[in-house]
Amino acid sequence: MTKTADIGLIGLAVMGENLVLNMESKGYTVAVYNRTVEKVDNFINGRGAGKNFIGAHSIEELVASLERPRKVMMLVKAGQPVDDFIDQIISHLEPGDIIIDGGNSYFPDTIRRTQYVESKGLLYVGTGVSGGEIGALHGPSMMPGGSAQAWPFVKDIFQSIAAKVDNGVPCCDWVGSDGAGHFVKMVHNGIEYGDMQIIGEAYQVMKDLLGMSADEMHEVFTKWNTEELDSYLIEITAEIMAYKDEDGSPMIDKILDKAGQKGTGKWTGSAALELGVPLTLIGESVFARFLSAQKDMRVEASKLISGPKPEFSGDKQAMLNDLKMALYGAKIISYAQGYNLLMAAAKEYGWQLDYGGIALMWRGGCIIRSAFLGDIKKAFDTNPALAHLLLDNFFKQKVELAQDGWRRVCAAALLNGIPAPSLTSALCYLDGFRSAWLPANLLQAQRDYFGAHTYERIDKPRGQFFHTNWTGEGGNTVSTAYNN
Ligand code: 6PG
Repeated sequence: MTKTADIGLIGLAVMGENLVLNMESKGYTVAVYNRTVEKVDNFINGRGAGKNFIGAHSIEELVASLERPRKVMMLVKAGQPVDDFIDQIISHLEPGDIIIDGGNSYFPDTIRRTQYVESKGLLYVGTGVSGGEIGALHGPSMMPGGSAQAWPFVKDIFQSIAAKVDNGVPCCDWVGSDGAGHFVKMVHNGIEYGDMQIIGEAYQVMKDLLGMSADEMHEVFTKWNTEELDSYLIEITAEIMAYKDEDGSPMIDKILDKAGQKGTGKWTGSAALELGVPLTLIGESVFARFLSAQKDMRVEASKLISGPKPEFSGDKQAMLNDLKMALYGAKIISYAQGYNLLMAAAKEYGWQLDYGGIALMWRGGCIIRSAFLGDIKKAFDTNPALAHLLLDNFFKQKVELAQDGWRRVCAAALLNGIPAPSLTSALCYLDGFRSAWLPANLLQAQRDYFGAHTYERIDKPRGQFFHTNWTGEGGNTVSTAYNN
C-alpha cells in the first residue's frame, strides 16, 4: 500500500522546513512540495533523510499523497503567492478538504480568502506562527483562525507541535472565524515592535546618559531577565550585548542603526487608526523605525542642529532601577493598548476572542513570550469581561508603583536630548487615561467655531448637540457629519 501523509506542506523555506521537521518528530507523516522542485529533493536527502516525509514534485503528487480530509499548509511569502497557490491547489481538492496559510498574511486577505475557499466547498485556516526558525522546529506559538469546522481536523497536529507552558498546556488554540488568527498574530508583531523599541530606548539611555559599556549592559539585562521583565526579548538583548566581533569588540557597535521591517507593525498601526484605538506605543515604535531608516538625513541634521549634551551626575544604580520601572510601566501600557485593539476588532469583525487564551498562546514559543503574559492571563481569568488591562487591580497597582521612576527616566531623556518616543508617549497615555478631564472641550469649541460641528454640554444630557454662533457672522446651520 502506498504511504499516505497526514498533512502536506508547500514552501520549504526556513519556517516551512523547520515546521515539518517538528511535525515529523511528533509522529506525523508529512508530504512536502516546493515551487523550486530541487529544494524538495535536497530536503528529502538532507535534513529529512530517513524520516517520514513524502517528497512531491508537483501539486498533483502532493495532493494525491494526502489522507482525507486533505490538509495542505502553505508557508510561502505573504501576498500574491498565497492567492496563486490557493488557485493552483483548489482544483485538486474535494469538499471538506482544508487549506492552511501559516504565513504572516494581512488579516483582510485572510477574511477574503476564507470566504473564497468556503464558497468552493472547502475549508480555510489562516494561522499565525511565531517563534522564528528555532520556534518552528521546537515549538512555536500558533494562532489559528478561519473555518471553525476545520479545527477538529488540525487541532491535534497544531497542538502537538506548539510550544507548551505550565506542564504541557499548548500555546495554540482556536482564535476565531476568518481573519481572527492572523489579526492576533499581527497584534503580536505590533507588540513585538513596541517591546523592541522600549528596550532600544533603555539601551540608549544606558549608553549615552549613563556611559555604560556593552558588557555592563549585558549584566543589567541579564539581571532584569530574572525579575519582572523576564522575557525572550530581554534575554536575547543580554546575549547580544555580550557578543564580540572577530576583533574582540562588541558586535552591537558594528551594526548600522537603520531598522528594517516587513510591514506587520505598520498594519497594526493602520488597524488602530481604522478602529479608533489609541495604540500610541506601537505607533511610535513603527515611526521610530521609519526615522531610523532616514539615516543619511539624520547624519546631515546631526551636523546642523545642536541640542543638549547628555550629562549624568546622579546615582547610577537608582537610575537603572528607574529605567527598569520605565520599561515595566511602558510594557503594561503597550499590552493594555494591544488588548484594547483586539477588543475593538472583535466588535468590528464579530469575533469571539478569548483574551486570557490569547495571553496563554503568547506565553511561550513566540517572540514576545514572557512571564508578564502569565499575569495578563490571570487578570482575564479573574475577570473575563475586563474592559481594559489598567482597570485590573494587579496592573493598576503596578503602574502606580512604576510611575515615579518612569517619570524620572522620561524627564532625564527629554532634558538630555535622548529620544525616547515610546517610553514617553506611553506615560502620556497613562496620564490621559487616568484623566477624568482632557482639553477636548477646546477642540470641540474650535471645531464648532470654524465648521459648526457642534458640541455637547456638561450641564445638559449627553447626546444633545449645540452650536454657538461664535463670530456673530455665521448662520445657525450646523454640520452633522463629524460627531464621532
Ligand atoms: C515571529 C516574528 C516573525 C518575524 C517578523 C519580523 O513572530 O516569529 O514576528 O513573524 O520575525 O515578521 O518582523 P519585521 O521584519 O517587520 O521586524
